[in-house]
Amino acid sequence: MTEPARLLELAVSAALTAGEFLLDARPADLVVATKSTPTDVVTQMDTAAERLISTAIRSSRPDDAMLGEEGQDAGASDGRRVRWIVDPIDGTVNYLYGLPQWSVSIAAEVSGVVVAGAVFDPSKGELFTAERGVGAWLNGVPISVSGCSELAQALVGTGFGYDAARRGRQAQVLTGVLPLVRDIRRLGAASLDLCWLACGRLDGYFERGLGVWDYSAAALIATQAGARVEGLHGRAPSGDLLVAGSGRLFPALHDLVAELGADRD
Ligand code: IPD
Ligand code: CA
Repeated sequence: MTEPARLLELAVSAALTAGEFLLDARPADLVVATKSTPTDVVTQMDTAAERLISTAIRSSRPDDAMLGEEGQDAGASDGRRVRWIVDPIDGTVNYLYGLPQWSVSIAAEVSGVVVAGAVFDPSKGELFTAERGVGAWLNGVPISVSGCSELAQALVGTGFGYDAARRGRQAQVLTGVLPLVRDIRRLGAASLDLCWLACGRLDGYFERGLGVWDYSAAALIATQAGARVEGLHGRAPSGDLLVAGSGRLFPALHDLVAELGADRD
């Protein structure tokens, strides 16, 4: 077995364990604390799931670095070759409200390159996986992006940050996108937006302000399924902006969001 395949196996097992825990043990009285703004929430289940994932990974790979959204572990890789990037619940607001669009997202990076990714959607029993250079799968079946090449025909996902001023700007950008596309979806979990793009349920996606834990695993899944996932003008995707689409749709969506200044607050 190759190293990426072994890392993927561990990512899958940790994601399934955490996802089943989150689904089965969700208490009626979720305790909500806020992070960057009053709408940026974290529950006791986010921290418990991140601890579960960290324990599962560390029990077989104690020397790896780990970056988790809820800060269970330090983000620095300190020269270590393998780093895990973990979002224990992507779509925490959906989880809080009992909406079924949330995931557990785990990526494994070797020397700064993501080589394996697992995104588990427990509510629907859907496990998205990818191994760099090998492929992308939904429950073990290969997936690929839609063939959409026209903006006017494209169903485009997006998301909004937690900061009010940023949201105001994102709403302005949307007024420039909405009239030109088939429609917009704001589903509430960036990792699943990218996985849904990977299997053709969305044609395009863009968002400003994502954390690496939101997109690392799913960006690999989308690229292995045939998407381009980038920042503006050939840059790598980042918190500034992430734009994604099939090879045929990407240039038009990229140019539109670049012109609208979607990378600025
Ligand atoms: C959020 C979700 C959401 C996106 C936000 C993210 P969280 O992650 O992915 O769809 O629009 O930008 O922060 O906070 O639920 O883990
Ligand atoms: Ca997230």
